[in-house]
Amino acid sequence: MRLLQFGLLVALASGLAAIIIYITGVTNLYESTGLSDEDLEALQSLQGGFQKCVSANGLGLQSVSGKDYCQVTLNFPSDTIPKWRDPKTGELEDLSFEFNLCEAVATWEQVRNSTTILTREFIDALPNGWEEYAWRRINKGINLNHCQNKALCVEKLSLVLPETPPYFPQQFGRCAVIGNSGDLLKTRFGKEIDSYDVVIRENGAPIQNYTEYVGRKSTFRLLNRGSAKALDKVVELDETRQEALIIKTTIHDIMNKMIREVPIKNPVYLMLGASFGSAAKGTGLKALEFALSVCDSVDMYGFTVDPGYKEWTRYFSESRQGHTPLHGRAYYQMMECLGLIKIHSPMRPDPNRVVKFVPSHKTIRAARIASEKLLRRVGAGSADPLAACSIKRKQVKRNPRVVSSLRKNAVDHQKVVKGATMYPLEQNPGHGQLCTVPAG
Ligand SMILES: *[C@@H]1O[C@H](CO)[C@@H](O)[C@H](O)[C@H]1NC(C)=O
Ligand SMILES: *[C@@H]1O[C@H](CO)[C@@H](O)[C@H](O)[C@H]1NC(C)=O
Repeated sequence: MRLLQFGLLVALASGLAAIIIYITGVTNLYESTGLSDEDLEALQSLQGGFQKCVSANGLGLQSVSGKDYCQVTLNFPSDTIPKWRDPKTGELEDLSFEFNLCEAVATWEQVRNSTTILTREFIDALPNGWEEYAWRRINKGINLNHCQNKALCVEKLSLVLPETPPYFPQQFGRCAVIGNSGDLLKTRFGKEIDSYDVVIRENGAPIQNYTEYVGRKSTFRLLNRGSAKALDKVVELDETRQEALIIKTTIHDIMNKMIREVPIKNPVYLMLGASFGSAAKGTGLKALEFALSVCDSVDMYGFTVDPGYKEWTRYFSESRQGHTPLHGRAYYQMMECLGLIKIHSPMRPDPNRVVKFVPSHKTIRAARIASEKLLRRVGAGSADPLAACSIKRKQVKRNPRVVSSLRKNAVDHQKVVKGATMYPLEQNPGHGQLCTVPAG
């Protein structure tokens, strides 16, 4: 009897201890990161608004909160039939995806103020930029012995490496990013797409013969490895030959030859940018990243898998090159409900559709600051937008004519950041940025 009582006592005590450890553990997590009650409220408010937004706009998707203020799970309706199989494991795609809202809001809001085109200024300012970084952007760069012969590296990059950023945050107003989904053939979005200030396309997406559906205008084209190698064919897709081409991966001797000899008159650049984890390696996300770094608003077409999709196809070919369509669809819905983009699709064809319950700018801003603190980002909670600069260097002089001719939003932004350029640093702890600041 005694023994039993003792046992009960021990059990009770350890249960209590576990609860106490749990409570203090949870409190400590938030306390040690310096989150105020206001910060916690902002995160709660973001998650609440986010859930409502997903229900109202997600065509059946639902968001369920996870174990803390940041985690959410997006669930497809249980009658969704996944069609895509992982070629490695042969498994069908899941119907449920976890996302970290804090991570997303902190990272994507930073993109809006960043430069995502690789420049000479960036490589020069990066500590050991030529030895450690430049060769990675050159095909077979491993043979360059860390750019021991710097002149050779400079030469290989010269045709795609502007001295200073060719574009600025908020330089453009309304932008449309066009994916390559076969869904595009269901709605005649052409005229609507042409009404944007800027249109961004991807890889080998044709325009001719499809203008009714995809429009004519083309300002930028983002290229993966395969398309970049066929640069001479890609430039022909835009009859105006004005499109700027942005290569996601590396510059190749063959491309240099084509730029010189074909000749390719379009500007060609390499993209620089933070990576957003495995969900986000595709050209689609990179295109959105570029768009968010130069536009006020970003709308997307031709990316979505609406309920009842039969197959993942491209609008211009039968091939089924797509990958993880449901995951992508859930991720884009998250982006829409964080106020980053607006999704257009055959099931959401009204150009004036309002994204319902999208959290307000004020909520997003407060949640972004709270998330930066929680994730211990460089400069978290500071009122100075340059506090996130973990590396600061003197800037190569900008052309004052270019800067002063920018639209008002871009000029205002330049004032707030005191003329600094912010470059995301890949894999930098705390997501610090490299900033170049005007001399003097
Ligand atoms: C458009 O159609 C014509 C006639 O069928 C064809 O010759 C041409 O290659 C097509 N253009 C593209 C970009 O597919
Ligand atoms: C981005 O720049 C704006 C000014 O245009 C500023 O108010 C905002 O705090 C900056 N955001 C980040 C994440 O630094």
